[in-house]
Amino acid sequence: MRIGILTSGGDCPGINATIRGVCKTAIHHYGFEVIGIHSGFQGLLTKDTEEITRHSLSGLLNLGGTMLGTSRENPFKRNGVVSGVNKPALIERNVKELGLDCIVCIGGNGTTQTAARLAERGLNIVSVPKTIDNDIWGTDFSFGFDSAVSIATDAIDRLHCTASAHKRVMVIEVMGHKAGWIALYAGMAGGSDVILLPEISYSIHRIGSAILERLKQGKPYSIVTVAEGIPTDGRKRAGEYIAQEIEYETGIETRETVLGYIQRGGSPTPFDRNLATRMGGHATELIANGQFGRMVALRGNDITSIPLAETGGKLKVVTEDHDLVVQGRRMGVCFG
Ligand code: F6P
Repeated sequence: MRIGILTSGGDCPGINATIRGVCKTAIHHYGFEVIGIHSGFQGLLTKDTEEITRHSLSGLLNLGGTMLGTSRENPFKRNGVVSGVNKPALIERNVKELGLDCIVCIGGNGTTQTAARLAERGLNIVSVPKTIDNDIWGTDFSFGFDSAVSIATDAIDRLHCTASAHKRVMVIEVMGHKAGWIALYAGMAGGSDVILLPEISYSIHRIGSAILERLKQGKPYSIVTVAEGIPTDGRKRAGEYIAQEIEYETGIETRETVLGYIQRGGSPTPFDRNLATRMGGHATELIANGQFGRMVALRGNDITSIPLAETGGKLKVVTEDHDLVVQGRRMGVCFG
């Protein structure tokens, strides 16, 4: 078999570990040829590829970013580097000309939807869920998430020092797109007093009351973790908006930190390295068994796969009955 592999959408720690898992298994165990496709689906449109060898895989396991590069190219949308052509048809033609038997797509929700549509058109596709947001329906976790939570938790730990030193409220805005998974997991791991998620509505008055209650209890500072996707006044970023509103509501000095792309950098955690390795290997096993049109998934402790058609652009969001939300509330965390 001659398999193609591409990485698409936002980068995150663990992509290279996944590439290594797919390719080392393919080359060493199954004797497949592997062709790396550069810059996501853009590389399929422009036939921008490289042959992957054992040599190209060394040093990848703990390396952030993606050795293949990425893009947000969507062949089913008009924009992008190649215009004026039928991009899906061009991809099908290029896959044939490159002699590829199948494509492994490593990506998030957008990539999964593109992969499903290409599979519907008859291309042999296997996708591996990738995103720090952990919002991909059908898998309990995606690699990248644990690393982002680890980075955000370290940042929150550091904010406790300056908050207590200055008796301030420190607001930290974390990524997550439209879901609140990073804010929930890092907020709880970092001991936040307030955690705001897109999935749970909030009131500045309730947040202010919770912070002032802490003051009354002799705790003159608070940590507020905010998901970037919460509703605001539409003009300011979430962290800036919430910080200003809290300072106005409580009269307590409040500062914000936007953690941003730091959450997508650096070396993957051991959990993400092993999840990436396991998912990458499973993708190659699906190919060897001729099982295409599927997304690799983690269900409990098991690596499995589901039909790409089932994912249908569904988002996995935090629910109020999630045990971290329930437990947080019981411990006095304010969710807005
Ligand atoms: O999907 C990962 C992510 O980092 C989101 O959390 C964030 O909202 C988005 O990508 C940022 O997109 P871009 O990298 O295109 O600025």
